[in-house]
Amino acid sequence: MVELKNSTSEITLNTGAKIPALGLGTWRSLEGEAYKATLHAIKESGYLHIDGAAIYKNEEEVGKAIRDSGVSREKLFVTTKLWGTQHRNPEQALDQSLKRLGLDYVDLYLIHWPVAFKTDNIKDGNLLSIPEKPDGTRDIDLDGWSFIKSWELFQELPKTGKTKAVGVSNFSINNLKDLLNAPTTKVTPAVNQIEVHPLLPQTELIEFALSKGIITEAYSPLGSLDSPLFTNQTLLEVAKNYDVSVAQLLINWALKRGYVVLPKSVNPQRIDANFKTFQLKDEDFNKVSDLVKLEGEQRFVKPDWSPFKVFE
Ligand code: A2P
Repeated sequence: MVELKNSTSEITLNTGAKIPALGLGTWRSLEGEAYKATLHAIKESGYLHIDGAAIYKNEEEVGKAIRDSGVSREKLFVTTKLWGTQHRNPEQALDQSLKRLGLDYVDLYLIHWPVAFKTDNIKDGNLLSIPEKPDGTRDIDLDGWSFIKSWELFQELPKTGKTKAVGVSNFSINNLKDLLNAPTTKVTPAVNQIEVHPLLPQTELIEFALSKGIITEAYSPLGSLDSPLFTNQTLLEVAKNYDVSVAQLLINWALKRGYVVLPKSVNPQRIDANFKTFQLKDEDFNKVSDLVKLEGEQRFVKPDWSPFKVFE
């Protein structure tokens, strides 16, 4: 049987700060679940890194768990994200997130998508929603606004002390290039958080980002909700050799690739199990890496932000 150890590895960001390579994802951690899951992860399993977002609508629960965990704030790494309705005022949005979290600062604040929304048609002033035009299509803000302008404001936030670092999420190579080449861009994003798993390895994007000093963070590393990866024969066979689960295999494959991995779970046993690392042999790592050649690429998280181009 293979030796399992709690994850301790860290990656250094371009700010000099260290980020724990394995963090708890909280997307779809619902009301009543997010508090228990986050508390269990920190207090029982030993996670030091929690990834959240305003739009997950669970910042109150996640923040309370962080505060109740008994682990000192400076030992923890907390991320949240700016929603598309607030690109024109990210500092106000961050203030609101911090209030919901009950924290003085986050370690990392991300632009959730490179897409700003219009708020003219917003219902009941609810900024944590996807505004729609009267015809039912999504109200994307393409008039005189862009993620370049959002970043111009965003990059100033570390100076306020309300976040230690800033980054982006769901940026393609072209969008990263546009951002980095803009004359207004003075700060390079610390991270780009994107969907990554064996059926969407994103190798080119990860390598491009790294060449610019941007660390990739993998969301949906298990293949998201009802993942077909859990029943994949190759993965089941490799996992069986180590007496680990497919989830544990996928997490350790990601860690071996050298980026941050953010598996989500609200189940205490799975939260514990997902935090365990083991030595994955090169031949098995390669078997997992080769899966995409057999199965073809598959993206599980693909919201429609058209006409804005997010994925390439
Ligand atoms: P649950 O929260 O009930 O554990 P991803 O991180 O790729 O988005 O995947 C999350 C999905 O995988 C969730 O539905 C989560 O459900 C499930 N999941 C998380 N960890 C495990 C595990 N170790 N084994 C099986 N399913 C898991």
